[in-house]
Amino acid sequence: MRRLPPVLIEDGCSRELLSLIRTILAACKEISFRVGQGALSGVLGSTLDENIQGETQKKLDVLSNQLLKDILLESGYVKAIASEEEDYTVAGNPDAEYIVAFDPLDGSSNTDINSLVGTIFSIMRAPKDSDPADERIFMQPGHQQVAAGYVLYGPCTTLALTIGKGTRIFTLDKTHGSFMLTEEFAKIPEDTKEFAINASNQRHWQPAMQNYVNDLLAGDTGPRGKNFNMRWIAAMVGDVHRVLCRGGLFTYPADTKDPNKPFKLRLLYEANPMAMLVEQAGGIAHTGQERILEIDPQEIHQRVSVILGSKNEVEACLGYHK
Ligand code: AHG
Ligand code: MN
Ligand code: MN
Repeated sequence: MRRLPPVLIEDGCSRELLSLIRTILAACKEISFRVGQGALSGVLGSTLDENIQGETQKKLDVLSNQLLKDILLESGYVKAIASEEEDYTVAGNPDAEYIVAFDPLDGSSNTDINSLVGTIFSIMRAPKDSDPADERIFMQPGHQQVAAGYVLYGPCTTLALTIGKGTRIFTLDKTHGSFMLTEEFAKIPEDTKEFAINASNQRHWQPAMQNYVNDLLAGDTGPRGKNFNMRWIAAMVGDVHRVLCRGGLFTYPADTKDPNKPFKLRLLYEANPMAMLVEQAGGIAHTGQERILEIDPQEIHQRVSVILGSKNEVEACLGYHK
């Protein structure tokens, strides 16, 4: 079984990028340990604070953010960072080549119930001679990402990573702290009978998505002519991991529940990195109107509609949006 550094070097990963990825993973190993300690490490429950998006921060959100932020800024490998838990971008080393956007802990509502959580990250190149304090350096479409990944803190800790040469899956060997390659090239099956939605929002969706899901639910008595199965982990990182492993369609579509918040998932540190991982594994990642990786971001915490997963099923869903 091969360790992460030689695998990435074979893929043509530069020393600088490899060092940056290993720096992120060092923080993730610490998060993995803390999550695994649960109530023993005193990190469960909420803080009294809210982030800029008006969401209550869990203690693990704050801790995970601090670990990633400190190690990245100390490393000198990043020009700036953007995080779900930081109101604004934070400047780093002006001479560094890369910028990183991350969701330090995805699936925060799962922290206190010993269920799946993870870290999602997106690495882009900083424009030449740019100001590290200027948040416009993050306003790049997702197809410009040089690397994207997530670390899933589950029964085992797994890393899905792409540097644009396929999506690879590594498993953390906790006996010596190395990420080992356990799936050479993840390939999302083109067809699926599984979908992931938060069905409690269905009545707030646009008609296209309501019609699509109604036809899935009709099973072999409806126009799709086959029965479907449903899963919802409430952590995108867990749902996307299942899609990478065995296929499926995952969606968090637009809804009208809160007119000020038509979308839930954030473009820079949720949708974009997941879209790159999914496309690199042969799947599709779309908003219903456009390919996620082609969106020109306007702000760091921008939200988007997400439909991703098995190629033929996402295309079937998009057919309802035409
Ligand atoms: P986060 O914990 O980083 O705020 O993200 C949670 C996101 C995403 O991971 C998940 O798919 C979705 O929110 C869950 O939403 P519901 O609470 O509506 O199920
Ligand atoms: Mn998240
Ligand atoms: Mn989060």
